[in-house]
Amino acid sequence: MDTLADVSANPVTLGDKGLTLPLAAGEAYFNYYWLRDNCPSSFDSATRERSFDIMHLGAAPRPDWAQIDGGSLTVGWAGEAHVSTYPLSFLEAYSQGLPRFDPAEKPRRAWFADHYGAIARFSHAELKAEPARVAAWIEAILVEGVAIVTEMPDTDEALTETAELMGHVRPTFFGLYFDVRTHIKPTNLAYTAGALEMHTDTPAEEYAPGVQFLHMRRNSVEGGRNLFLDGVAVAEAFREAHPEEFRLLAETEVPYYCEHDHYDMRSRQRVIELDGNGNVTGVTISQHMFDISDLPQDLLDSYYPAFVRFGKMLQDDRFVMKFTLHAGECIVFDNHRIVHGRAAYTAESGERYLRGCYADRAEMRSTYRALTSEGRFK
Ligand SMILES: [Fe+2]
Repeated sequence: MDTLADVSANPVTLGDKGLTLPLAAGEAYFNYYWLRDNCPSSFDSATRERSFDIMHLGAAPRPDWAQIDGGSLTVGWAGEAHVSTYPLSFLEAYSQGLPRFDPAEKPRRAWFADHYGAIARFSHAELKAEPARVAAWIEAILVEGVAIVTEMPDTDEALTETAELMGHVRPTFFGLYFDVRTHIKPTNLAYTAGALEMHTDTPAEEYAPGVQFLHMRRNSVEGGRNLFLDGVAVAEAFREAHPEEFRLLAETEVPYYCEHDHYDMRSRQRVIELDGNGNVTGVTISQHMFDISDLPQDLLDSYYPAFVRFGKMLQDDRFVMKFTLHAGECIVFDNHRIVHGRAAYTAESGERYLRGCYADRAEMRSTYRALTSEGRFK
């Protein structure tokens, strides 16, 4: 074989700013900065952090040579004694300019009023004992937005312990947890605990808490059924029936507030939340935290009818799952997707005691990835 044949046999072409090479899906282009920055040696094997700093390169990175050896691309860099070797499978993953695969990116499955029997359930003991069950539990929350933990110990610690299986407890202005407690004695015959309208929690915070935990410690009252619905199901039905009103609720930021003597929390949120692809990810709604709207009055001519129509849809029997959370159960749900409320209750005797807390959705997804995928470095 002569030298000319050797050169022409090299399938890697060096360009001005990057190189091209053939991959399984066809010819692919890679920028030299990207290649130099993402040399496998750029990452510390112990911390897994990037230890190479491209800001310290004296000149723009440029190869002297590049070739394919078996299943790898090898690049010799000009001006530095450094050779990089990239598995072709690694290059394949980045050749299309698509977001890196995310195992926690699960399609949401909408559910309706009849979902109660199908809610994913996990015992507290199995979650503590088996990481694979924690992964299945988180997956249910990613896909359906809700799951129930059963056989919870009747202790303050049980709630914290459950939340810590997916991340840290995330404080709000209520603190690390909140108690909803009603004692009703036989003498209080007329005692009525009012209904709680359908809402998501604390929308006045800049980042409303992502995952909510409600641990029912005691529940012997009559009535007071829990009302839960899937905001994705309602918003998608709303889009179908009223596309222009859907657009208004998905595009217009409205003000929420929570104010008292020592705090004045304010935020602006969209009632219907979409991802970058236009899919509904959830809703933010709370009548008792909806601020005096400062939108232009003529915009309100169209916004308010849409807002009210959507609010009425949140009462629709098609969507509202009605059930009783029993003592020893902890319902865990996506606070940006699942809208919840409570029917009124009147009881001659009984006790209702609920302890709640929040965790962060990003931490939940992080735990899920760590439990289910290999990561980049294994
Ligand atoms: Fe709530």
